[in-house]
Amino acid sequence: MGRLNRNPILTAEIGASHGSVLELWAVGIGESADTPLVFKAGDRVALRLEAPPSTPHFYRYRNIGDADLTVLWDPTSLRVPYAYLYDPATVGDEGVAFVDFAEGGIRLLPPRQANAAVADESARPQLRFSPFKGWMNDPNGLCLVDGVYHLFYQFHPPSADWGPMHWGHATSRDLVRWTHQPVFLHPEQDLWSLRASGGAFSGSAVRGETGDLSFFHTERLAADDPFTGYREIQKRVFPAEGFIGPREARVVLDRAPPTTSHDFRDPKVWKHGDDGTYRMILGAETDGDPSVLLYASPDGDDWHHEGVLYRAPAHFAAHGARSIECPDLFELDGRWVLIMSFVGYHEPETGRHNLMYALVGDFDGAAFVPSGELQELDFGTDFYAMQSFEPDGRRLALAWLFNWETGKPPGSAYSGELSLPRVLTLEPDGTLAMKPDPAIDGLRQRRLSAADLSDLGVLGADPIELNVAGTASRITIVATSTTGSEVRVGHDGTRFDITASEHDGTIRYVSRDCAFRSARIFFDRGVVEIFGNGGTVCGTTRAYRMDRLTSISVDSDDSTVEVEAYACSSAWTSG
Ligand code: FRU
Repeated sequence: MGRLNRNPILTAEIGASHGSVLELWAVGIGESADTPLVFKAGDRVALRLEAPPSTPHFYRYRNIGDADLTVLWDPTSLRVPYAYLYDPATVGDEGVAFVDFAEGGIRLLPPRQANAAVADESARPQLRFSPFKGWMNDPNGLCLVDGVYHLFYQFHPPSADWGPMHWGHATSRDLVRWTHQPVFLHPEQDLWSLRASGGAFSGSAVRGETGDLSFFHTERLAADDPFTGYREIQKRVFPAEGFIGPREARVVLDRAPPTTSHDFRDPKVWKHGDDGTYRMILGAETDGDPSVLLYASPDGDDWHHEGVLYRAPAHFAAHGARSIECPDLFELDGRWVLIMSFVGYHEPETGRHNLMYALVGDFDGAAFVPSGELQELDFGTDFYAMQSFEPDGRRLALAWLFNWETGKPPGSAYSGELSLPRVLTLEPDGTLAMKPDPAIDGLRQRRLSAADLSDLGVLGADPIELNVAGTASRITIVATSTTGSEVRVGHDGTRFDITASEHDGTIRYVSRDCAFRSARIFFDRGVVEIFGNGGTVCGTTRAYRMDRLTSISVDSDDSTVEVEAYACSSAWTSG
């Protein structure tokens, strides 16, 4: 598509018919040149970036003329890390077309081509959402509108590192196959040039009295608050038609209670009971302990602090926990479930950190009374900031697969993947179970025999779903990949464990005690997601040097263990 012209100026025709919008992030490098970046509509200069700053800058251009756009770019004076085009009238269905500014030239990548490129990346998981480029963390604002799921996510478009936060946006009809949409929220301040972090932090979606949707999220502002050097406020955002950005944003809470000296964020909001009032929970710290704060409102705008909903035992602060992030609270099978991510926590016995927990109990709109112990959500720990929603009577959830322990290899154009969509239920004994949404079964391509499993490389089969069931008291499943990297999932009669050859072995990824009954495991190029014992014991690990699999072996002391395996298609290119 793009073609090389006279060095060093690269040019390409990128289309962009009347009404299209081009959005891009540019960073100045080197000396300013005559033509760092110019967009021409016919003979006319439509947009010209003369002297772009050395910090990332966002630009938008709406083509109101009839001529298509041509780009002229000097790659020695400016980088364009993220750019896309869309037609506001059709983007909801079609998604954005990426404009890839690379050393070899400028390429226009409409969704089909962008998805094919992503499916070809041997180090990119294929069964789940990840951004085309840039950094992603928490899922935000999950909702279903007119049969379309909307996923928003913490996003830093200009690099694969965490930075000033935006809300990225993608849509799907099944939570499995995704369409990239324009960035939805931008940071309120130019944090790059302030050399500050913050921006549009995490939040959730809620439907109002008339069914209209709004989002609540934290904005972290660069401001000199005592202790923090920043200020976290809560905003309510109403989406514009078609979810192309916000129509209106209001600040609804600009002050934390006096007992909270840092961290006051990630509003999860819902309509409570029959009186039409709203509740909001926020992740926070209270007098040094990680905690969850409760607020109530008659209308979603005017909020009153009801008190501390949950305060973690002293053990957590004593082992590094700074606060709770991304809390969630919902009714499930007649009980209430509180979900919490403990940032900074280091579990002394295993060395694992930033764990997520669920607490089951009762909630009357004002107080949460737990009826059991904290339940660990994922023993592999690469499962964080989970957000749930209830689109169709089922409680579904997605989480960010990360733990600050291992990152993408240097040079990766993107960072961050989401979990498979999970369906949450409560077992009769109060244990939270998470199973993959059956929509994922649609990616099964063909069933594999035991012989196939020892020679996956030849078959070119990947990713792989493996189901193992039986009464083994010892079981070891080893997956090897073309890079030589291995992941081992085991059960030693007492508990599940995961080890990856690329981890340094200082952290022990082990589950709580339980007998082995079954394991459903998704090996997905660098991500291994385990649903043990019907989803009551889950474990997720990232081992990014595991790319395409060469073999999977299942070894156990029970010869009647049943093994069923499927080669799966990429969610990016199927359907
Ligand atoms: C959790 C978190 C949230 C915050 C967001 C910032 O991963 O730290 O508490 O809103 O990420 O990107």
